[in-house]
Amino acid sequence: MSLTAFFARLDGVMRSAAMRLPPEYSIRFYSQARKYFLSRHERDIPKKDVKIPPEFARSLWGIRFRSPIFNAAGMYKNGEGYAWCALSGAGAYLAGTTTYSTRQGNERNNTRLPFAPYPSSHAASNWLGLPNIGHAAVAKILASIPRIYKCPIGVSAAFDPSASSESAFAGLIEGLELYSKAGVDFIELNESCPNTAGHSSALQFSLEPLLLRLDETARRFLRKRSRNLPVIVKFSTDTDPDIVPFLLDALITMGYDGVNFGNTSTNYSYCKSLVVKSEHPTFDYFTKTFGGGVSGKPLADSSLSLVRTAASALTAKPPRREFHVIRVGGVETASDVVESLENGASLTEWYAGYFENYSKYGANVYGKLYDELSKFPLPKAFNFASSSPQEA
Ligand SMILES: Cc1cc2nc3c(=O)[nH]c(=O)nc-3n(C[C@H](O)[C@H](O)[C@H](O)COP(=O)(O)O)c2cc1C
Repeated sequence: MSLTAFFARLDGVMRSAAMRLPPEYSIRFYSQARKYFLSRHERDIPKKDVKIPPEFARSLWGIRFRSPIFNAAGMYKNGEGYAWCALSGAGAYLAGTTTYSTRQGNERNNTRLPFAPYPSSHAASNWLGLPNIGHAAVAKILASIPRIYKCPIGVSAAFDPSASSESAFAGLIEGLELYSKAGVDFIELNESCPNTAGHSSALQFSLEPLLLRLDETARRFLRKRSRNLPVIVKFSTDTDPDIVPFLLDALITMGYDGVNFGNTSTNYSYCKSLVVKSEHPTFDYFTKTFGGGVSGKPLADSSLSLVRTAASALTAKPPRREFHVIRVGGVETASDVVESLENGASLTEWYAGYFENYSKYGANVYGKLYDELSKFPLPKAFNFASSSPQEA
């Protein structure tokens, strides 16, 4: 077993013990450990390539995804970890989120990049604040990556939350152009980070500025694309389901290619009701001290329900072009993936659930999932434009 896999398994055992420390100390410990663990994990190249059953592949927007699941944004913020993803069997690879300017991320109470796992609840909180080295530096890294087994490369990008609106626009458009030149296969626009000023998970309160931003981005970038480069928009799992049909209509009219539900939640009272009692002191300390976004199992019902709502809106009013729904939030098992695909998602991404499985299976994290997935008939990707699943 590699050192990182060993650390991950040890972590699986130690986490509950560490969570019995006073919250302030356990959070400081895990905020440090997360950084160390991530940097080790992405160097832990599997010794044997994971074979992906060919029937798991699916073609969306003319891009061949090797399977319907890959990492959610925020895991490889600076373009690291591609070889790991490609060799361990991920369906694709997603870098970012990046912003125009380099960001150090958040720090408070002597805790840098605050993070807390809730292991017994299969959940976590983070208040990282989009730390990253910037669009230009990451575009350079992605441009130089040798492709492995044609594993597609995506990148998540966001407006610079600290910039004035005109320079934030200019910065985002420059970033998107750099990513286009770098040869990435798809872009995810992060419109829902709860950990920075100017972004929000409470979409219903900021709909107008959001639509203006998206329209401006469409005008300055989407309509000028000179090659196939799908752009999807990521919203929070807190999105009000009532506005989903309107939101989809707007995205399709503007020329976006898909939607992702979604990002972490700031609905603390609801999430807390799904966190086990022994983890309430850490949950309360984290949300009161930092706020932040909750990830993992507490998001599963909202993300699935948003996917369902999106699918029925797209079925009722089919788009003229290919448009896909991606589910993120609480995806952890093969049956979560199947349930997502059956309800209208064409792809899934995972973060908390990925590390839950990694702590048990190490480098075989995708291999193990695929063994389980092979037991199910796997639905094809939905193509709402023709209202029928399409062939991979
Ligand atoms: C530590 C951490 C960092 C994250 N960073 C980002 C990010 O940079 N951009 C983004 O769009 N989402 C980010 N997310 C949210 C995830 O991509 C995902 O939407 C969320 O965690 C829900 O999925 P999950 O339940 O599988 O964890 C982050 C999540 C975590 C836990």
